[in-house]
Amino acid sequence: MRIGQDILQAAHCLKLGQLVGVPTETVYGLAANACAESAVISIFEAKKRPAFDPLIVHFASFEAAKAYVDLSNWSEKRLAELSSLAQNFMPGPLTVLLPKSDKIPPLVTSGLAHVGVRVPQHKLLQELLSNLPFPLAAPSANPFGYISPTTAQHVAEQLGSEVAYILDGGACEVGLESTVLGLDNDVWTVFRKGGLQIENIEAVLGSVRVLAHSSSSPQAPGMLKSHYAPLKPLTLLHRSEVITQDEALSGTFFLLFENKIKHFEDQRQILLSPNGSLNEAAQKLFAVMRELDANPHCQRIIAEYFPEEGLGLAINDRLRRAAAKA
Ligand code: TXA
Ligand code: MG
Repeated sequence: MRIGQDILQAAHCLKLGQLVGVPTETVYGLAANACAESAVISIFEAKKRPAFDPLIVHFASFEAAKAYVDLSNWSEKRLAELSSLAQNFMPGPLTVLLPKSDKIPPLVTSGLAHVGVRVPQHKLLQELLSNLPFPLAAPSANPFGYISPTTAQHVAEQLGSEVAYILDGGACEVGLESTVLGLDNDVWTVFRKGGLQIENIEAVLGSVRVLAHSSSSPQAPGMLKSHYAPLKPLTLLHRSEVITQDEALSGTFFLLFENKIKHFEDQRQILLSPNGSLNEAAQKLFAVMRELDANPHCQRIIAEYFPEEGLGLAINDRLRRAAAKA
């Protein structure tokens, strides 16, 4: 496995059917040729991901995605809405579930009729996609159920032996996975909260339905309740409950938004954004969870709820899922 910024090398490996770690603005992906079944199978194997959990497919542009979807049954109204979504948010941290055409192997969508279409906004990946005659199937580049990677190093640490190459695009700017949106009974529905804020989607579509995460949603099997989880137990509490905790209890570390708790020891309190920026907090969240997981002094993590607005919604969603494992 090599790490670098060589687009041609990455393209070469992908054309051979190999796996490549790729940067996106959200998290790093574990990419393969979406149209080659054997390459897609190796994604599931490398991640130890169950075959019922479908993969997102990445395109250079919405235009490029059109041959891979079949919108022949869509009404003028829905087509116009889709076109506005593409215009506003592609490229961007959005995945839209669309009826797939025959060009997408059933394996990619775990047999579902819809495919997740995403146009990532990262210069290196954009360049790579433009150099390829096929789109890229890519889940987040972490072992199934673990925290998503936000640096090339994270990918190397966990899946280094599984990939032929890692395209190093630096630390991800958004830090949370894409927002997954689709039509459910002809109603626009958010299946996974993510890097594109719901407020922004609603500015284009009007109000949308937001699915509470569920461990048994047949529509989006990957929305498993316990996911994005560190190996150490994580408890999610409101601030008023956090301040009453016993900080000395078996190596407790605190994952907080902007303010430390005065009577606690400084070094056990991790502030995700001392300036109170939810964007900054989202960008750092997964890297900090990984650091705490690796820190021998940390035995349990207590996180506080973030404000329920903007990216705070997606941050709380990830923290809830991380806590579900404990
Ligand atoms: O930001 C992202 O979305 C990253 C980067 C690499 O693009 N990818 C990512 O992929 O997070 P993954 O596989 O870790 O999560 C994709 C989620 C899963 O929960 C999956 O179940 C859901 O999207 N999904 C994908 N295709 C679907 C489909 N056809 N129908 C329903 N849910 C789908
Ligand atoms: Mg994932």
